[in-house]
Amino acid sequence: MAETMKGLQRTHYCGVLRAGDEGKEVVVCGWVQRQRDLGQLIFIDLRDRTGIVQLAFDDGTDREVFDKAFAARAEFVLAARGVVRERSSKNPDLPTGDIEIAVSELRVLAKSETPPFEIVEDSNVKEDLRLKYRYLDLRRPDLQGRLLARHRIVKATRDYFDNNSFIEIETPNLIKSTPEGARDYLVPSRVFPGSFFALPQSPQLYKQLTMLAGFDRYMQIARCFRDEDLRADRQPEFTQIDFEMSFVSQEDVMAIAEGLVKQLYRQVLNVEIETPLPCMTYAEGMERFGSDKPDLRFGMELHNLAEALQNTQFRVFAGALAQGGSVRGINVKGGAEKTPRKEIDKLTEWVKAYGAKGLAWTRLNADGSASSSYEKFLSEEECAGVRAALDAQPGDLLLLVADADAQVVFDALGALRCEMAARMGIIDESRPNLLWITDFPLFEYDKEEQRYVAKHHPFTSPNPEDVDKLESDPGSVRAQAYDMILNGNEVGGGSVRINDPALQQRMFKALGFTPERAQAQFGFLIDAFRYGAPPHAGMAFGLDRLVMLMLGSESIRDVIAFPKVASSGELMTNSPAPVDEKQLRELGIALAAPEAENTADE
Ligand code: AMO
Ligand code: AMP
Repeated sequence: MAETMKGLQRTHYCGVLRAGDEGKEVVVCGWVQRQRDLGQLIFIDLRDRTGIVQLAFDDGTDREVFDKAFAARAEFVLAARGVVRERSSKNPDLPTGDIEIAVSELRVLAKSETPPFEIVEDSNVKEDLRLKYRYLDLRRPDLQGRLLARHRIVKATRDYFDNNSFIEIETPNLIKSTPEGARDYLVPSRVFPGSFFALPQSPQLYKQLTMLAGFDRYMQIARCFRDEDLRADRQPEFTQIDFEMSFVSQEDVMAIAEGLVKQLYRQVLNVEIETPLPCMTYAEGMERFGSDKPDLRFGMELHNLAEALQNTQFRVFAGALAQGGSVRGINVKGGAEKTPRKEIDKLTEWVKAYGAKGLAWTRLNADGSASSSYEKFLSEEECAGVRAALDAQPGDLLLLVADADAQVVFDALGALRCEMAARMGIIDESRPNLLWITDFPLFEYDKEEQRYVAKHHPFTSPNPEDVDKLESDPGSVRAQAYDMILNGNEVGGGSVRINDPALQQRMFKALGFTPERAQAQFGFLIDAFRYGAPPHAGMAFGLDRLVMLMLGSESIRDVIAFPKVASSGELMTNSPAPVDEKQLRELGIALAAPEAENTADE
């Protein structure tokens, strides 16, 4: 039977003991990192969340204690009492490396089977295995460190908002499904068979209602759920730092958000961020970087080649321009040598994922010669014009995309720009790069649905200068919306909200809602706005994403204790999973297809 802690009180964490503690009797608890048996001598590295300390057993040790140490294996849970003494051979790599504990009492609190992988920093074990045994993975110091940093960030966030007179208010997780935005996770109702709750994609409507209720400044660390395809920076359930303010303008919200990021960097990472952050309009972000979340840690801007190619006979370029599209290019400085033909062919396939139909290229060799996929189709003057527009020098690689849809050109080149910068190693990682993107379009055209949808959400206020164009030219209406960009990632976004019921009705109309459908879906909100809605605005940060970027992690999963994998499943508990027939019956649910396979395994 395992021994207990009875009569034993931990006095110190393992990682905190130093030379100054020599001579003290201490009690430490933790997991066996490693046991080394040198015959007359046994050493055990004992690990807890603060680090590792060495336990020593030698000919001065009581026989029974020595035997227990002899039998200890990796990940056994031990409690040890002993005196701190100077080590004979010091370990400069370990903070506790000057000392060891000469153990007088040892208790085996739990044994462990041989773990499926060793608990070490920077493990290169496959992620699937790590996620299946996440509780073991979480014993690794790098993951523990990141979750500790996450805790500090959340704590500092709450303090910051509290100091600025915000009140944390919890909003419900079982809410009404509203089909705008991503797909909802649905929760069937037992009491109302055939009816469903949805899990919130964000607390948006409720936080606006707290403004109507007069709370003036709301915040919440809120869990959100979105049934969308996952990427490295997305999870189906994630956490927002959500806030909303009354009687403010866009600038006030931005100042609060900047203040938070400044505070978090200062407090958690000891890094100073200069505020106010620079602002760039959405239009400029697209034009110069092909992106609404531009990474400004490097140049390689997009250039419009329409003028140089206005009279071209080359059908790929001429066709795109004639259809109102665009031809644009980037110059990968010094990229010719580093990007052999084979790589260019791969890049051509790569940009297709962004909708591009092809990639035109020119490699300018150092000796002044060149090879190109398109120059042979252009006049000498056109070639020179393109090269001049891209400031081409010997050694450079020019990459061009043409398309009848300018957005495809922006998306493909915007992504290619980041990919090439990473390959060329020109991204300045030394400092975080933060900026605002403002003046988003209010709507975007959904080609599938053949209608305008809200770019942000239907409650975002149009720019007052553009309100007249809501019906006549919706595509050109700018929103009072803003995103914060950190190292080329959207870490947060928000907007000034509509607080005028008549304007809200016009917005619904522009989005193709009949008044009946708007009432059925958002009636409670439309009604609420009739009873004195203060002007209000707000924003939400993606907490997981912010932590990931602040800590320089590659994946959002590295800063979440129990994350989901790309299929949205969870490998440790093997969920989602089928449920009992009885549970389904209670909910009035009959499955259409034969019981679906458990999809949690990728
Ligand atoms: P938005 O949809 O832009 O705005 O979300 C705010 C921020 O949340 C993060 N985020 C995600 N993080 C991880 N996984 C996901 N699947 C995911 N989706 C979004 C992003 C994003 O910037 N209610 C509005 C905010 C407002 O207007 O106040 C909202 O939810 O970092
Ligand atoms: P093609 O005659 O279709 O093979 O096109 C000739 C060259 O034009 C190709 O090798 C590509 O480099 C380039 N190209 C084709 N389509 C596009 C496009 N949509 N954008 C940019 N370049 C293209």
